[in-house]
Amino acid sequence: VIKLVAVVVIGYLLGSLNTSLIVGKFYGTDVRKHGSGNAGMTNTLRTLGKAAAVMVIAGDILKGVISYLLGNIIISSIPASITLDLAGIGGMAAGIAAIAGHNWPVYFGFKGGKGILTSFAVVLMMDWKLGLILLGIFAVIVAITRYVSLGSIIASVAFPIGAAIKGNGTIFIIFSAVLAVLAVARHKANIGRLLNGSEAKLGQKKKTNG
Ligand code: G3P
Repeated sequence: VIKLVAVVVIGYLLGSLNTSLIVGKFYGTDVRKHGSGNAGMTNTLRTLGKAAAVMVIAGDILKGVISYLLGNIIISSIPASITLDLAGIGGMAAGIAAIAGHNWPVYFGFKGGKGILTSFAVVLMMDWKLGLILLGIFAVIVAITRYVSLGSIIASVAFPIGAAIKGNGTIFIIFSAVLAVLAVARHKANIGRLLNGSEAKLGQKKKTNG
């Protein structure tokens, strides 16, 4: 249990390194004061351009991968007899904690992003084949609608559904559902804007607040 707490704390602290806010510091800009107000890749692209967005993609994915690996390394030292069917629980717990850290970063007044890139990294680590399918779903939706948020929401919801269809195990499905709930909850404002038609499309700079 102590190890599990350690894993969650480490994941949270790593996830709190919100790359869009760190990269924004190099540009002297807080992306939370621009565009959608969100501290994430999409709003960094909107506000600071492609080079900054690429750095955010790299950073947010990396912290998800590192958290997952660290989580598994720390927990796998528990004797196999105790872990039983809990294989991978360290990585999944650290991954979810990293997503929470990204969304509510301790270093940035708990105002972060929506955790989609870090979620994607965690999904890839949990089941890379399913991750690539979800990336495909995301890409098709964004290509058709130009709404990054809609792609994020649908791909996130598809994760636990896909995991259940694949028969990935109860613990896996529970973590995938938590990940999906976090992602959808963080898109509350986007869902409102999608419904009333005011959501900014990819490439649009329109200010939408939140
Ligand atoms: O990953 C975040 C994306 O789905 C929406 O971002 O800035 O348009 O609210 P944003």
